Amino acid sequence: MKKLIIALVCATASLSAVAGGNVANGEALTKKYSCAACHGADFKTPIDPSYPKLAGQHADYIKHALTAYKRGDGPNGRNNAIMGGQVKPLSDRDIDDIAAYLHSLPSSLIVKR
Ligand code: HEC
Repeated sequence: MKKLIIALVCATASLSAVAGGNVANGEALTKKYSCAACHGADFKTPIDPSYPKLAGQHADYIKHALTAYKRGDGPNGRNNAIMGGQVKPLSDRDIDDIAAYLHSLPSSLIVKR
């Protein structure tokens, strides 16, 4: 029984870590860093087709992507001249909040079955 309770507590803690981003602060951060200048005012109409749509994207994926740009070269990193510079000032907390905000936006990303 004790083990079950511990497992439940852990599951709850990790869930809230995923859903823990602050949407309002995420919005403020995307304004501060002008993310919309490239990704589009609604984050689904980027200024160039090679720039990804972000609105409605899964928060854990956005978090993973931004963390990978921070890592840059090396294991699990993404080496990109543009985004590498963008993520430099972002803390892990900032990334959580931005991911929560972008995920909350109306999306044009769909899966056709
Ligand atoms: C100067 C233009 C520009 C700005 C400003 C910019 N981005 Fe990007 N972003 C890009 C480009 C180009 C890519 C694709 C890079 C690649 O090929 O890896 C990208 C990729 C991404 C990705 C990965 C998406 C995916 O589907 O893998 C995320 C997340 C992202 N940007 C978030 C942000 C956030 C958050 C900000 C503001 C802090 C921001 N971007 C500012 C141009 C920009």
